Amino acid sequence: MRILSGIQPSGTLHLGNYFGMMRPSIELQDQGEAFYFIADYHSMTSVFDAATRRQHTLNVALDFLACGLKPEKTTFFRQSDIPEVTELAWILSTVTPMGLLERCHSYKDKLARGISPNHGLFAYPVLMASDILIYNSNTVPVGKDQKQHVEVTRDIAIKFNLQYGETFVIPEPQIRDEVAVVPGLDGQKMSKSYGNAIDIFGDEKVLRKRIMSIVMDSRSPNEPKPDAEKNLAIQLLKLVAPADISTDFENRLRVGGLGYGDLKKALFEHYWSYFSTARAKREELAANPDYVQKVLRDGAARARQLAGEVLEKARKACGLR
Ligand code: ADP
Ligand code: TRP
Repeated sequence: MRILSGIQPSGTLHLGNYFGMMRPSIELQDQGEAFYFIADYHSMTSVFDAATRRQHTLNVALDFLACGLKPEKTTFFRQSDIPEVTELAWILSTVTPMGLLERCHSYKDKLARGISPNHGLFAYPVLMASDILIYNSNTVPVGKDQKQHVEVTRDIAIKFNLQYGETFVIPEPQIRDEVAVVPGLDGQKMSKSYGNAIDIFGDEKVLRKRIMSIVMDSRSPNEPKPDAEKNLAIQLLKLVAPADISTDFENRLRVGGLGYGDLKKALFEHYWSYFSTARAKREELAANPDYVQKVLRDGAARARQLAGEVLEKARKACGLR
């Protein structure tokens, strides 16, 4: 089984990225042949500064390796080291109906937030389809917001196969229901671009302050809170604390007697210790950038071999050979 996923170097990675995409991907490493990449071509639709892109790319590599990606087992690479994906994206775009892209929520959401769209942003799902199809991927672990893009990929692959003959493997999205959408500090989906994220790594003081700043309602500590499961700190605590501890906090909130300050303090402590091993590993890796670059180079060499074969098959199928 080929497992494939990607993440954009468009900002600092946060708990939504970790629980929605990174942890499921890392856990799947032993269940098949995993290909994970840093989607730097995709980041070009929203990041317009070269140094920023380079910096985020290195940071995503450090974050992923620190969190447990095993480069000896998993093929880990930079998307742009495989230029074949851009050629396949063109080929796929010619069998992609405009309506399919016009219906994509992620594009519509970005428009709604006032982003002035470029063609790359509109065509982004076609490049994503190329990423997935060029490695004969069977399963794609992603957060819920990316599910539609994997469905678009399936539609494009089916259309190409019908038009030009069986060429591509049809992939399946893999979504973890319990962490499909991790909420941010404002209760909306946690996102790099909404200013509501808790980063995986960073300065302790800053992160403590961020967690302590989560806005709660004005009910007094002693008042019972029958809606305790909806509390944002409880929802986040469930991700980073052992189940018996988060259940205990939830019950104490429900019956009354637990203050929001104490709850947020506990959330910070559990969050901080959840990532302590990864934090130490990240420091080691950051001191050894040559190693990180080598991992990405070796991964790219492996990925490129397969990408070349699948692209050639697609070229032949549609008469470019
Ligand atoms: P962002 O919205 O922060 O820019 P991306 O779109 O780069 O995040 O998402 C990278 C991966 O992380 C995707 O698989 C996405 O589904 C997942 N992801 C991002 N935010 C969340 C979230 N709040 N909850 C669950 N998964 C998320
Ligand atoms: N679009 C994905 C995101 O923003 C990143 C991505 C690009 C991706 N290509 C992919 C994810 C292929 C899975 C498979 O998160």
